[in-house]
Amino acid sequence: VAYSFAAVLAAYLLGSLSFAVVVSRAMGLADPRTFGSKNPGATNVLRSGSKVAAIVTLLLDAAKGWLPVVLVRWYGAPYGLEDGTQALVGLAAFVGHLWPIFFRFQGGKGVATALGVLVGFSLWLGLATGATWLIVAFFFRYSSLASLASALFAPVYYVLVGGVVWDTERSIAAAIVVMSSLLAWRHKENIARLIKGTESSLGSKKGAAN
Ligand code: G3P
Repeated sequence: VAYSFAAVLAAYLLGSLSFAVVVSRAMGLADPRTFGSKNPGATNVLRSGSKVAAIVTLLLDAAKGWLPVVLVRWYGAPYGLEDGTQALVGLAAFVGHLWPIFFRFQGGKGVATALGVLVGFSLWLGLATGATWLIVAFFFRYSSLASLASALFAPVYYVLVGGVVWDTERSIAAAIVVMSSLLAWRHKENIARLIKGTESSLGSKKGAAN
């Protein structure tokens, strides 16, 4: 239990590193919490005009979700850490991104971090969910809509496809459902804008009008 608790705490602290803010600062760009949707995430960093900063943010925010999960899987067994702890550390990194202790608990929406956690759980799950994001983003040009669709499909992929292709674990399925629900809830303003038709589309630098 002590090892489990330490792993969850470490994952939460890692998840609390808001890379949108860190990368923007390091690259001399404006703080993403001050423009566009005001969200510290890769999509909003893209609105600063720097694709490189957005991609680095995406990769680092995803990596902080992926790393704790695979570390527990690869090295956890001697410490008694099993699938339940994989699910918990993934969730902890995601929660850290949403409510980061280093940034007054004002975090992001969790899309990149959730994707990293999913890749950690299962590469196929991550690829299928990432492909879902790309397809929806390509056809509809809204990052938020692509994220919401991916959040809806990830549990379906894990439970339905996963049940056939790889072994599914109840704790991991539960973690995915919780992540998807929190992610959708964090998009409530995006959902309102999508309905009103005022959501900013990918490629427009203006950002959300709020
Ligand atoms: O990465 C979060 C994305 O789904 C929406 O971001 O900045 O358009 O609210 P944003």
